Amino acid sequence: MPSVWPMTSDFGAEIGDIDLSQPLTDDAAAVIDDAFSKYSVLIFPDQHISQQQHVEFAGHFGPLEQSIARHREGREMRVRLDLADVSNLNPDDTIQAKEDRLRIFRTGNRLWHRDSSFKFIPARASLLYARSIPPVGGHTEFADMRAAYDDLHDLLKEELEDLVAEHCIRYSRARMMFDDFSENEIKSMPPVPQKIIWTSEKTNRKNLYLASHAGKIIGMEEGPGRELIDRLIDHATQRQYVFIHRWRQNDLVIWDNRCTMHRGTAYEDMRYPRDIQRATVSDEINSCERAGLVVENRETAAMSS
Ligand code: OGA
Ligand code: MN
Repeated sequence: MPSVWPMTSDFGAEIGDIDLSQPLTDDAAAVIDDAFSKYSVLIFPDQHISQQQHVEFAGHFGPLEQSIARHREGREMRVRLDLADVSNLNPDDTIQAKEDRLRIFRTGNRLWHRDSSFKFIPARASLLYARSIPPVGGHTEFADMRAAYDDLHDLLKEELEDLVAEHCIRYSRARMMFDDFSENEIKSMPPVPQKIIWTSEKTNRKNLYLASHAGKIIGMEEGPGRELIDRLIDHATQRQYVFIHRWRQNDLVIWDNRCTMHRGTAYEDMRYPRDIQRATVSDEINSCERAGLVVENRETAAMSS
């Protein structure tokens, strides 16, 4: 049976005594599910898994997203379509060029975010697996959005309760001065509504649902809306809510995108390979629809006022 080693009373745990290259037994799955809802970030050290085994383990948590296909147009990829290559490597394992669009695009991961919050149905969980890591830097940080919510003033909680933010990949990439999107990409990824407060059915805990992909708050002017988003992200990412994962080779880390934010940290990416790949599990439903709000036009994802 897997063993669970908590990092704190309710955020982050290491899971031992399990080999993820083997099929998951029902008993092991129950221990992992339980730990996942309690600790939100789970670390499985020393795993030796193929792409297929990575995908199979991820499939236990729900249906997988396909990686954003536009990167793949005309480009040979290192991983299958249901994995995202987060490495700094070319298909022949050389280091990507400084001006490579993929490299520049990936630096957006250094901003606090949740995976795919810019999709109408966002990501529920992500599973990141490290085949090789740089000797210095390249950690991944996680912020506990339940604890961050709990500490807000009651008046602010009330103010936020019904607010809906607009998330779009262009908003976060614009923060990094990247706007090299084709018309097709812009059309295929319109801003989507996501509720700012989310309650877990499982634990009944509320949490903040924010990301650098959030650029506007519906019903607020752009400036004050953006200021509120930034202020809440600043609050939620204070040291007491943050756990830093320092990678070891062959770590697999899974996190719950619904109650955590994360970001990658810098490393010398023109010097050291960092070979890391992600499986992304979809949520079942959009956060506004989950809260019973009416979304008028799901294609363009406009909210009814
Ligand atoms: C991701 C991500 C951060 C990192 O893969 O979703 O944000 O440290 N990665 O690579
Ligand atoms: Mn991410």
